[in-house]
Amino acid sequence: MKLRTFDLERIQSLYENTVDYNLTESGFHPFTLKELLSEEQLNDITNTVLGYGQTNGSIPLRNRIAQLYKDCTADNVMVTNGSAEANFIACHTLLEKGDELVMMVPNYMQIWGVAEEMGLTPKAFHLRAENGWAPDLDELKKQMSNKTKMIAICNPNNPTGYTLTKEEIQEIVSIADYYGAWIYSDEIYRGAELNGIEITSFQGHYDKVMVNGGLSKAYALPGMRLGWLVGDEQTIANTWSYSDYTSITAGVLSHKIGEIALEPTKRSTILNRNRAMLNQNLNILQNWITAQGTLFELMPPKAGGMAFLKYNFDCNSTKLMEYLRKEKSVFIIAGDCFWMDNYIRIGIGAEKEYLEKGLDLVSEGIKKRFHQ
Ligand SMILES: Cc1ncc(COP(=O)(O)O)c(C=O)c1O
Repeated sequence: MKLRTFDLERIQSLYENTVDYNLTESGFHPFTLKELLSEEQLNDITNTVLGYGQTNGSIPLRNRIAQLYKDCTADNVMVTNGSAEANFIACHTLLEKGDELVMMVPNYMQIWGVAEEMGLTPKAFHLRAENGWAPDLDELKKQMSNKTKMIAICNPNNPTGYTLTKEEIQEIVSIADYYGAWIYSDEIYRGAELNGIEITSFQGHYDKVMVNGGLSKAYALPGMRLGWLVGDEQTIANTWSYSDYTSITAGVLSHKIGEIALEPTKRSTILNRNRAMLNQNLNILQNWITAQGTLFELMPPKAGGMAFLKYNFDCNSTKLMEYLRKEKSVFIIAGDCFWMDNYIRIGIGAEKEYLEKGLDLVSEGIKKRFHQ
């Protein structure tokens, strides 16, 4: 088996439940069903027949999802078990052994690992810290070839929180078009913009586009394991064939709850709650960074539930993560998981007091170890 360990997911799975303060979560403090649903909806849910349901997603749910994209209907939507399954299925539908893939880095590295395992050659184009995390599109052009089958984007980006400008989206589309390559855009953080202005989806910008979405991040419902793919009707029909081999379907309760969460008024309530949390917590984080003197630097995220901090002291990021976890029972993610040492990712979608306490522990740990 030629499968690279997916460090980000594996490390989180190993330790996130064994620490007092887990600051690795990149989404928002999740809702309970009681908080999310009215009494009538709760009652309705308890009367649900626990069958398989419609395996590519119930029609009401796919209609709701379709409304989030330009000129789409339920036939443009495939519902998956979380966005991780969406990414996996998209790779298997769009790519073949021998193809090349050019991927935005840093990124959620799932697609890189899946591509390697499928026998592809992944290549990187970078978001540049020195340019406020803007993408290096000259590098993207250099990495393209007639073998490039896909450009893989994460917008809004995990871990930097960067969101592409309209001009950057247009340029990426014209580069893809020139080579006839697919654009696959992981848009799971769409809806979690700090300024409240939702990013434009890649969907609708070009005929060879597929995007994902899901409830895990912007909607604060990761336990529903509900994701989706959106693309042209034929390719979406092809993705269904893969899900017959992976999970068959997302759970019927997730379909129902997804339908409720995406109802326009409910959706706004959820997104507004999360954006308020994000703005408040970013402020807390920035004050904390100022209080640490010159130890940390942050290019503030434009969206998402996390901040990617550069640190200015001598320590490998994995060692720093391990030290803080063992010494202070506070868990942050090492930049190494994104192939960027000297950075850490801190989740800022947590409840205020939890984040403050977690950050106190990080500074205590650093003071003790580095005598700062
Ligand atoms: C960018 C990105 N895509 C996909 C996923 C997987 O999401 P899900 O939990 O819905 O499977 C994550 C999870 O962290 C993510 O950050």
